[in-house]
Amino acid sequence: MLLMSWQLVMDGIQLKGITMYYHFILVEILLSAATFISSICGHNSESRFQQREEMIFYKDSLLQGIKRPCPCNETKYCSRVETHPKKEIFIFSVSNHNWLKYDWTKVTTVVEFGYHDDDLLCHAHSKGVRILSNVNIPVQDLTNQRARHIWVQQRVETVKNYFLDGINVDFESAIPADRKDLKQGYTDYITELKTTFKKHLPGAMVTVDVAWNSGGVDGRFYDYKRIADASDFLFVMSYDERSMRSYLKIGIPPAKLVLGVPWYGYRYPCMAYDTVTYHCWLKHVPFRGVNCSDAAGNEVDYGAIIKAYLPRSLTGRQWDKAAQSPFFILKDSRSDRVIQVWYDDPESLIIKYRLVSDLQLGGLGMWNADSLDYDDPKMTQSMWNAIPNLK
Ligand SMILES: *[C@@H]1O[C@H](CO)[C@@H](O)[C@H](O)[C@H]1NC(C)=O
Ligand SMILES: *[C@@H]1O[C@H](CO)[C@@H](O)[C@H](O)[C@H]1NC(C)=O
Repeated sequence: MLLMSWQLVMDGIQLKGITMYYHFILVEILLSAATFISSICGHNSESRFQQREEMIFYKDSLLQGIKRPCPCNETKYCSRVETHPKKEIFIFSVSNHNWLKYDWTKVTTVVEFGYHDDDLLCHAHSKGVRILSNVNIPVQDLTNQRARHIWVQQRVETVKNYFLDGINVDFESAIPADRKDLKQGYTDYITELKTTFKKHLPGAMVTVDVAWNSGGVDGRFYDYKRIADASDFLFVMSYDERSMRSYLKIGIPPAKLVLGVPWYGYRYPCMAYDTVTYHCWLKHVPFRGVNCSDAAGNEVDYGAIIKAYLPRSLTGRQWDKAAQSPFFILKDSRSDRVIQVWYDDPESLIIKYRLVSDLQLGGLGMWNADSLDYDDPKMTQSMWNAIPNLK
């Protein structure tokens, strides 16, 4: 998943009065000025999602063909959720430690990412909240019809056996623009999945995670329009209007787009920084054929940013007007290196959440709900309270 990080290359481009130098990239997080930047810079949205194998915990009962009993104290909690919220609040849960502390008055769908918890399922269903399992598609089988058929059947069994409400597909592999066969193959996977669900698991959802831009970013030349047609909606790992517009432009109805925002930030080592503007020059880190990417930085959870990084900052919380995001600079105590941290907090998130009503999107969601420090109720509440009541 990604954060907004626009990194500008180089060679004396004049921007906001700063001359940038060869082999340095100025990290900028520019929301409104982003169009210009995107034309010269690529973006990495892989990170944690990359190289992840599909989780194995769903598979045990499938292999043995055992029907699992309903784990909930009332059998009705093992039925799929049938109500439809006005807007989605679509959250990724990556650990089973915090879910009781999520704001259940707001959430509509939880994706179990990397674990399964029966108690979470029963709790969610008692609140009318959907639970989806996160799956990947085996890239080597994209054009293998038989493998696809088996894969789809296994997903049906998983959803049935675990009393889930559907599936969230996270596929982030590159598909080159000239590989029409692979592009078609990916669309076929989603289409067959949804068609089969409709037949055997009425109401079960198929949702698909997509990159911040529909234009083949990170080498991902997918048929986004047809994937949107075939699925319930796309979760756009995004954050800004331009990103969402790139999907609207190719004809996807706004209601089929869920705005994904980061509940994490990025830390970038600075080669140097400007003591007046606090802009920081980054190392050149290429990714999938583009010279600048957020591969130059590392993700940091919001909880850690506020508790561990911000208190040690040299600058205190700064606000970048163009990006409408906070950032700060600190010195790493061990290496003595200067680090810049960009992130989102309630103030910047509220601005992004407004896009849901402005563009009439299908809802919003975040990666991920466990990025907060749930021992700190003030932090936790301020982040959850920033989410509008859309249910
Ligand atoms: C039954 O399960 C639900 C959902 O997990 C829970 O909220 C409720 O307290 C449980 N009821 C009893 C009587 O244990
Ligand atoms: C990336 O940088 C290298 C070396 O500076 C250059 O040769 C290449 O053309 C650049 N690629 C892009 C896509 O800008």
